[in-house]
Amino acid sequence: MDSYKELLKLIDRKRLPQHIAIIMDGNGRWAKKHNCRRIVGHLEGTKAIRKIVEFCRETGIKILTLFAFSTENWDRPKREVYALMNLLSRFLRQEINNFQKNNIKLLAFGQIERLPTKVRIELAKTIDATRGNRGLILNLALSYGGREEIVHACREIARQVSNRRKKAEDINEEFFNNYLYTTGLPDPDLLIRTSGEFRISNFLLWQIAYSEIYVTPVLWPDFNRQELLLALIDYQRRERRFGKVKNG
Ligand code: FPP
Repeated sequence: MDSYKELLKLIDRKRLPQHIAIIMDGNGRWAKKHNCRRIVGHLEGTKAIRKIVEFCRETGIKILTLFAFSTENWDRPKREVYALMNLLSRFLRQEINNFQKNNIKLLAFGQIERLPTKVRIELAKTIDATRGNRGLILNLALSYGGREEIVHACREIARQVSNRRKKAEDINEEFFNNYLYTTGLPDPDLLIRTSGEFRISNFLLWQIAYSEIYVTPVLWPDFNRQELLLALIDYQRRERRFGKVKNG
């Protein structure tokens, strides 16, 4: 705890990332390491989510985007998918009061229509209830894939062009952005990946063009406030140039 307090002192509160995105990886490896079933790893991963949400809210981070379930995750054994969906709906049921109490707004993006009805119902209920909250935005990527998102955007734009509502010349980066699931939100400043893999795994392919990337070997269930502070310290040491030259 003492080292946590020391680390906290190193943070410049005026230069915090406003949007943090996390690829929460390593639940399965955590379970293996502790000789338990994969679902126990996911359960512990859910506890880590609670801690990180609390930290972001307290610290004044504006948006936390979590990769909670990818389009590829549907190919996992049926039992694991079922367990993950159960965890998700339980998480939403349990957290709704906390979200209200702490002014947290929930958003979700991805192929939401593929989720089981009971998850969609909990999601819609929580999103609706927290719509007016103005504190932290907790943004869950569910049944999400970056390529699918881009294809989805292209399909929508193609429809507009073929209906003659838009011209091909209207398409630029800003226009394209409006057709992504994340429209209205700023791009992540910091992308964190746990469990040591140097991969993007089809997450926010468009939005992370200029994000700072931080990879830690820590498995997601072990990722805590202290680990997030280390990521923030690393982020604040970097100079973000967005392709330009210093002072240019
Ligand atoms: C990766 O671990 C993690 C996921 C499949 C997604 C994250 C899910 C949770 C934290 C739990 C449920 C989510 C919510 C929002 C309640 P992995 O299984 O790929 O780990 P491995 O690579 O070590 O096998």
